[in-house]
Amino acid sequence: MDICKKIREYCEIMRVAWYSNQNPNIPYHDPLCRLAYLYSTVPVNANLVEFVFENDNDIENYLDSCQSKKGSVSICVFGGGPGTEILGLAKRIEKRRLDDQISLRYVLLDKVTEWQESLIEIESQIETRLRNKIGKRKDWPLTLTGHSTALDITDTANFGNFGNIFGKIDVFILSYVVSEVFDDAIKLQSFLSKMTESAPSGAKFIFIERNEPRWVEKINIMSDVAKLTLSSEPNHTSNYMSLDEQRTHLGKLLEDVGRSPRTNWNAFWVVGTKE
Ligand SMILES: C[S@@+](CC[C@H](N)C(=O)[O-])C[C@H]1O[C@@H](n2cnc3c(N)ncnc32)[C@H](O)[C@@H]1O
Repeated sequence: MDICKKIREYCEIMRVAWYSNQNPNIPYHDPLCRLAYLYSTVPVNANLVEFVFENDNDIENYLDSCQSKKGSVSICVFGGGPGTEILGLAKRIEKRRLDDQISLRYVLLDKVTEWQESLIEIESQIETRLRNKIGKRKDWPLTLTGHSTALDITDTANFGNFGNIFGKIDVFILSYVVSEVFDDAIKLQSFLSKMTESAPSGAKFIFIERNEPRWVEKINIMSDVAKLTLSSEPNHTSNYMSLDEQRTHLGKLLEDVGRSPRTNWNAFWVVGTKE
């Protein structure tokens, strides 16, 4: 019960920090804070990722063309430690029911190494679900291979140690991470520029962020400096997560925590291309 109380407190601490107009400094190193994030935010953010791919034909077609040309799709997620983007993409790919399997290779960059615990669990849950629903791996709509790398995305100092692994990435995702680094956004800008230099031509950079003019402006500047061509004006979206996920699925946990997880978003996304 104390754990649930602490989760409830952390949910409120995070909410206040994100809207404080200052660097959020969320203590993700505390396991209860990570649990609170997984409870309150990962489901809705994963649904938003699913929504973006469902509603952006260009990006989904690009994914399919990578798969058919190379036999796999490689993604790199900035601040992707919890596994949110993997969850959202897996949900979208499962729902599409394509004839061809998508072989998803991922690299998650996050400075909080402890997130690996949740990533391993999320990957295992996705595979268990596919095995129970569909059976043999060869018939699954997607297979997953990848890893999480401990990296501070505001520090270019260690960039050289990663060789050319970023040169093989098709899609980079930055979801709710520009607002998270806040004070260090200018350093993230340098990191992004370096990353863009080593990315292959045609690589896509998907920015998903809270719907505030300052983040639109910041992402425009970052893309400009990194010489990314933005495909469109920002796509604004204000919506609820899909009906196949309900608060009641949480059962007693919802009662024990005594606070609902977030179920809606007010966000935007924009896609940049490395020419
Ligand atoms: C608000 S969460 C977003 C997580 C995920 N993208 C999502 O949409 O649920 C921000 C993430 O960025 C990570 N993060 C914050 N500052 C970072 C930095 N300087 N370098 C790498 N990761 C960072 C945090 O550990 C956390 O996982």
